[in-house]
Amino acid sequence: MDPISTLNPENIWVYLAQIASQPGHSARVMTLASVDSTGLPQARSVILREVEPWLLRIYTDSRSPKVEQIQANPDTQLVLWDAERRWQLRFSARGNILEDRAIVEALWQSIAQSRSAQDYLGAQPPGEIVQPGAAERLEPALAVLEFDVREVDWLALDSKGHNRQRLTPQGVQALVP
Ligand SMILES: Cc1cc2nc3c(=O)[nH]c(=O)nc-3n(C[C@H](O)[C@H](O)[C@H](O)COP(=O)(O)O)c2cc1C
Repeated sequence: MDPISTLNPENIWVYLAQIASQPGHSARVMTLASVDSTGLPQARSVILREVEPWLLRIYTDSRSPKVEQIQANPDTQLVLWDAERRWQLRFSARGNILEDRAIVEALWQSIAQSRSAQDYLGAQPPGEIVQPGAAERLEPALAVLEFDVREVDWLALDSKGHNRQRLTPQGVQALVP
């Protein structure tokens, strides 16, 4: 039997690490919401790359607007929908840019020969108007964004009755779905 078939707070980080390690898993694509300098919400899809207890990591282009937004205001939410299990997980988290160059360099070495290397070598920052003829970067603009999870809102849809729990490092509370 699948050990993570029930909504069990003990298993949540193992469950998430499993998703992060499966490239084809649809729940690996999460929605990350940040707040921009005008106070407006900005949401986009990102891939869940690494998981530790109360910590999620994604990779991004260091020039992308989300990086500046999170540096200015670290309050974020990440949302995951697992269609197979019918689970929604909503993470309230403080984001920060991993500054350790040695870790980022080691990561770059592991992806430099892969197709996704191109994602970090674009001539221009993501979101800029395309300037024809701009030269590709030689140095990768790779950044690791870390999210310190403060709270998880876990909703499990079930025809026999939905379940919802709030998880914090202090404990678990059952919520009205
Ligand atoms: C399925 C999917 C996965 C994506 N994964 C990432 C990712 O892991 N990191 C990332 O920076 N952008 C990713 N993107 C692109 C972002 O959604 C977004 O368009 C881009 O990062 C620019 O966002 P920003 O302008 O808010 O910084 C992904 C897009 C899609 C459709």
